[in-house]
Amino acid sequence: MRVRMKYVFLMLLFVAQMVIPLQQVQPVQAATLSKRNGAWLYYDDAGRQTDYTGLVKYNRRWYYVENGKVNFQATTLCKYGKKWYYVENGKVNFRYNGTVEYKGKEYTVKNGVKVGRGRAIQEKSGSKTLVVYFSVTGNTKPLAENVAKLLDADLYELVPEDPYTDADIAYYTNSRADKENEDPDARPAIAGTLPDVSGYDTVVLAHPIWYGQAPKILYTFLDQVDLSGKTVTTFCTSASSPLGTSAANLQKLEPDAVWLASRRFPAGAGEENLKAWLTEIGLYGKKDTQMTMTIDGKEVQVAWEKNDAVQALMDTVAKNPITVKATRYGGFEQVGSLGTSITRADAQTTTAPGDIVLYQGNQIVVFFGSNSWSYTRLGKLTGYQKDEIKNMLDKNAVTIELRMK
Ligand SMILES: Cc1cc2nc3c(=O)[nH]c(=O)nc-3n(C[C@H](O)[C@H](O)[C@H](O)COP(=O)(O)O)c2cc1C
Repeated sequence: MRVRMKYVFLMLLFVAQMVIPLQQVQPVQAATLSKRNGAWLYYDDAGRQTDYTGLVKYNRRWYYVENGKVNFQATTLCKYGKKWYYVENGKVNFRYNGTVEYKGKEYTVKNGVKVGRGRAIQEKSGSKTLVVYFSVTGNTKPLAENVAKLLDADLYELVPEDPYTDADIAYYTNSRADKENEDPDARPAIAGTLPDVSGYDTVVLAHPIWYGQAPKILYTFLDQVDLSGKTVTTFCTSASSPLGTSAANLQKLEPDAVWLASRRFPAGAGEENLKAWLTEIGLYGKKDTQMTMTIDGKEVQVAWEKNDAVQALMDTVAKNPITVKATRYGGFEQVGSLGTSITRADAQTTTAPGDIVLYQGNQIVVFFGSNSWSYTRLGKLTGYQKDEIKNMLDKNAVTIELRMK
């Protein structure tokens, strides 16, 4: 019996979790919808209102009313009370997690509610990167400089307002660093002005490992900036400790960023090691391949395969850019003709969201779900979460463009 009660409680918790987001919206007094001549019209206490634009709850769902009429074509953000909600085909989609374009900016949405500030779409396609580093004894600094050079990024040094002396960093002597490490709320002040991160779409954080973690000044930085929606990663140097939980703990401070895998390096790590890591996480190498891909006009980051099919595709694209009118198929992919046949080496493949493959030698397929078929792999979208990929591709049709830089 006790066991059963536990399950009932868990079920209630689960149901409550699904219902709570709906309660975040405060209803307009006595507002309702009524269907007239095929259109859903908005009424309140004073009767039919043709000037109302906003949300209204009807039969347990939230609808988007535009000038007094539900607009089932609308996919937008809509402010209601103090929050902005994600409207999809005229209804608030409380299950949506991903990004949304609204009035020239891109916003991150969690459970149907906008979080963080918007970022200009042009800035994203310009793909600007910032490397932020902290280094006291000089090991991390040259690596950060090298990463900035490889990524053609801006560099910003976190300089403490109160610089660390040798005594301050003498560990296990009850030093300043010891005390900061033990105090979860320690936030050493940063000197000068912080960089304006709104202009960057990728941020790399670099730091030494102190007591198995990032020094607290990194926490100060993350407390003071908003990296929502940005692609972020970290790397560290240490005497011997591994990455451990250092990156995971920084990630908690920016839950709405798109985090790429972090890496620990020994002091003096060379450019090849840095390059290998940056290539693995998709930040480096784009320039080597020279072929860019856009989906509905927006450049996407792709890690292209190094195979004959991609080489043949590049050769073709080098002569003339290719525009593919792709359509949704099977609820898991966008597929369209390349207008030409290229070298193929088909093999039975199970795809994942973001995978780009060649089908029958003459069609390009980009997946937002999964399928098992005989394909030739072409590449993979990198730096996107599954729901971002779905948001980009789960629509009737998209235009894919391939061109050389
Ligand atoms: C206060 C303090 C704590 C440290 N804790 C660790 C540690 O837990 N594990 C480790 O391998 N190295 C530790 N180190 C060594 C540094 O991580 C290493 O020397 C690093 O490369 C220093 O980077 P920097 O020269 O850029 O400041 C510590 C160093 C200091 C000053």
